[in-house]
Amino acid sequence: MTERNTTDNAGIPVGSDDHSLTLGPNGPILLQDHYLIEKNAQFNRERVPERVVHAKGGGAFGRFETTEDVSRYTKAALFQPGVKTETLLRFSTVAGELGSPDTWRDPRGFALKFYTTEGNYDLVGNNTPVFFLRDPIKFPDFIRSQKRRVDTGRRDHDMQWDFWTLQPQTAHQVAWLMGDRGIPKTWRHQNGYGSHTYLWENAAGERFWVKYHFKTDQGIETLTSDEAAVIAGEDADAHRADLWHAIERGEFPSWTLHVQVMPYADAATYRFNPFDLTKVWPHGDYPLIKVGKLVLDRNPADHFAEIEQAAFEPSNLVPGIGTSPDKMLIGRLFAYPDAHRYRIGPNYAQLPVNRPKSPVHSYAKDGPMRYTNAADPVYAPNSYGGPHASPKADDHASTYGVEQRVVREAYTLHAEDDDFGQAGTLVREVFDDAARERLVETVVAHVSKGVSEPVRDRVFEYWRNIDKETGDRIAAAFGR
Ligand code: NDP
Ligand code: HEM
Repeated sequence: MTERNTTDNAGIPVGSDDHSLTLGPNGPILLQDHYLIEKNAQFNRERVPERVVHAKGGGAFGRFETTEDVSRYTKAALFQPGVKTETLLRFSTVAGELGSPDTWRDPRGFALKFYTTEGNYDLVGNNTPVFFLRDPIKFPDFIRSQKRRVDTGRRDHDMQWDFWTLQPQTAHQVAWLMGDRGIPKTWRHQNGYGSHTYLWENAAGERFWVKYHFKTDQGIETLTSDEAAVIAGEDADAHRADLWHAIERGEFPSWTLHVQVMPYADAATYRFNPFDLTKVWPHGDYPLIKVGKLVLDRNPADHFAEIEQAAFEPSNLVPGIGTSPDKMLIGRLFAYPDAHRYRIGPNYAQLPVNRPKSPVHSYAKDGPMRYTNAADPVYAPNSYGGPHASPKADDHASTYGVEQRVVREAYTLHAEDDDFGQAGTLVREVFDDAARERLVETVVAHVSKGVSEPVRDRVFEYWRNIDKETGDRIAAAFGR
């Protein structure tokens, strides 16, 4: 190997990796030691703010191949038969901070960036098909109840159950979370879901509602609370390590993408409000349709540059894919680019990991840390050959159900909409006796940790509303 001289950041050779410049071996350090100052100043600035949620995670690069023909549903270039697209997938826990254990009970993020020929498409989902909420105005309240108390600086089960029981819309996601899939064995052994309902449009302009399901090809495997606690103590980064080593061994994890497709007109009369993020579409109503395969085959070379600074945004939608009237999805369209401008800086999209692999012809210029050149003209319209916008590109803006009435109201209820029904189906029809037993144990153990009496009483009611027998068993464990 050729000998390389250490340099400073300007590429200038430096004299020592070990000693500061001093007046004699025991004398004061000299201000002219530019390298010492640069090294320490750089060190003081090594961090960017961690993500306000989903701070702890890891990820890898790979590719998605559309193996089936779904062109009758979408014209999106990446979903045309045989098309292969480079991808980045970042997994995460939600509530824990940057150094928190990978095996705490929490939903897992499943954030996927497709570097398509028509720009970046980001599908920022979770390992669960539903979420705790159906209106983004509640997201900060919910997250604060999961994070740390003001006074003790500790996470607090009383706060969590207080919020959950006061907001019964959380019941489906809480039942899922307290079930076996609440702690995946590894990131490889879990499914990923787009969770929201999205719009697909085909080349003829026909529209459909879709839900994405990435089914793990490794099989579902989970941890019990006890197993997870042991791993959390032994190796907080166990899931990061598992993914890294699997890829290093050449065992490339993969997921098969399926979608559920709902004809556009069905939305008005479907038995559940199809845009309510606390609900699934039962498979019996809308079966899974296979689309293709996602494979992860390359570890990041620099975790900070490529994973910590990765910026996913549900607003990155490509032609043929659009939003639905899901209020949570619309709320998220604002939240992510706003977070990136704060966390990484306004030119975050220029970083190699975030930069599209298709040409960018935006009128953006300047700003902190910009490094790719803008080009004149920098205003539109112009007479100097600048790019032209196309009104057709607004196709994906959802206009479904738009009424000229400004309100603050809940979704209109469809025939079978309520907070507890689908949670009850999960507990009664999907879980078996042994899984229900583990569910009761998990909830009892969770509630035993610092949940106050009035909140506990509401917990029993909450679970009785989900499933009478399960609620009674949880209450009985507390002598109620
Ligand atoms: P199905 O019997 O067709 O499907 C049941 C679903 O539950 C499957 O997707 C299965 O995933 C999943 N599942 C199995 N065990 C668990 C578990 N311990 N925790 C969470 N999910 C699990 O039923 P329906 O489509 O009629 O839905 C019934 C209930 O299943 C819903 O109320 C919902 O709670 C849950 N569910 C439904 C999904 C959907 O999109 N319809 C998706 C995931 C859960 P797999 O096939 O990968 O084993
Ligand atoms: C991360 C907001 C709901 C999945 C984030 C971040 C914010 C945020 C601000 C940090 C972004 C960053 O700094 O890079 C919100 C808001 C929501 C919401 C306001 C509701 C209105 C959801 C839902 C899902 C989800 C419903 C999944 C279906 C994720 C994932 C990440 C994330 C996976 C991590 C992305 C990554 O790996 O970088 N969210 N979120 N969020 N969110 Fe949400």
